[in-house]
Amino acid sequence: MEEIVSLCKRRGFIFPGSEVYGGLAGTWDYGPLGLMLKRKVEESFWRTFVESRTDMYGVDAAILMNPKVWVASGHVATFADPLIEDKENQKRYRLDHLLEDAGVDVKGMTLEQMRALITEKKIKSPDGNELGEARLFNMMFTTHVGPVADDSSIAYLRPETAQGIFTNYKNIVDTLYPDLPFGIAQVGKAFRNEISPRDFVFRSREFNQMEIEYFCDPKDWEKLFEEWVAGFHSWLESLGLPKDKTHDLEVPDEDRAHYSKRTIDIEFDYPVGRKELMGIAYRTDFDLMNIQKASGKNMEYTMKGTNEKLIPHVIEPSIGTERLIMAIMCSAYVEEGEGEKRRAVLKLPEELAPYRFCVSPLLKNKPELVSRAREVFAELKAKYGNVVWDDNGNIGKRYAKQDEIGTPKCVVIDFETLEDGTITVRNRDDASQVRVKVAEL
Ligand code: GAP
Repeated sequence: MEEIVSLCKRRGFIFPGSEVYGGLAGTWDYGPLGLMLKRKVEESFWRTFVESRTDMYGVDAAILMNPKVWVASGHVATFADPLIEDKENQKRYRLDHLLEDAGVDVKGMTLEQMRALITEKKIKSPDGNELGEARLFNMMFTTHVGPVADDSSIAYLRPETAQGIFTNYKNIVDTLYPDLPFGIAQVGKAFRNEISPRDFVFRSREFNQMEIEYFCDPKDWEKLFEEWVAGFHSWLESLGLPKDKTHDLEVPDEDRAHYSKRTIDIEFDYPVGRKELMGIAYRTDFDLMNIQKASGKNMEYTMKGTNEKLIPHVIEPSIGTERLIMAIMCSAYVEEGEGEKRRAVLKLPEELAPYRFCVSPLLKNKPELVSRAREVFAELKAKYGNVVWDDNGNIGKRYAKQDEIGTPKCVVIDFETLEDGTITVRNRDDASQVRVKVAEL
């Protein structure tokens, strides 16, 4: 994990947020390479689950929403984690995390049961102090809309993108008349005031979600649920996550979110342990019913042909971009070879690699090589966009750097190029080299 975190920083993938001022816990900034990777991951999601299907629509809703949304969704009442305080220094911790760190399986436990275990097992804070009372802490960030900061102007930063989909369900039905089943997808920011952000970007306070609400006839939910689980498994595999490192967890009743009747978490074997990568939940008609009750607007869908009316049920696949990027980086990162040949390589699938090609002149101080290399670079750049120029250091150092950032092919212009028009193409994964004509790239 440390290798990955260090590579992310060293090579410009992910930096700690506001680092120049000492940081802000739980926030991270994407650097140039991380942003390219993030965009490609989110584009792949969109291509796979929206553009290549005929039953999917997209939205991009506002992050700030009417606070009634979060009352109706149940988040104001129940979106909370168990918090406990160090009595001496008032540092705050997730009660369940302290117990897990002490080897306790907390699945299904109530706040009281967890608190009792802290006393029974004499668990202290990480600083060795007594722990105080436990309470539930709502994770939604609040802000105020307008110039007066009082209770009537409270708004929340959305803790899930899903509600921006539910609140637009009726707009989409009324404007696009989709056949049932159909889905609405959204990719965007979500915010959670996590008590203890940790494990790099895995648990952040500001992160990105890629979510789908798939609206269906309730009689079809079980079959569709299985289809979505299978669909996500094959997508994750296409992004380089080994099959044997992803696992389905059937989330027990007592651990499911308040809106779900069935949830499968797809967990991944991260270097920090097996942890939730994403969830697929059967949200029933929970959200549309609540919106109907709270807004007084009819959320029924009229079946084409029969005119039968029903409130659709919902299957929701939801995945955090950062957790996926972490899984992709961990799957792609390899250290191989011995002695001088030892190298670190990011074997990313070609479609995710920040740069597709790196173009170099063999020697920086030979103008004829540099000018031919510049021509090849311009040609490839115009065609592919994500092509990088590198003439720093010697060729070995350039290869090492490109291996580490996952560039699949390094193209080198040397003296032979000037004679016969061929260039060297060096392959990232096995370091093999071939000579081809520029046009054959
Ligand atoms: N709309 C459903 C929903 O939000 P969730 O299980 O709370 O469900 C979905 O979150 C996904 O969002 C998670 O599986 C994870 O990938 C990501 N996620 C949740 N909290 C996160 C956090 N604090 N930091 C990074 N990713 C997070």
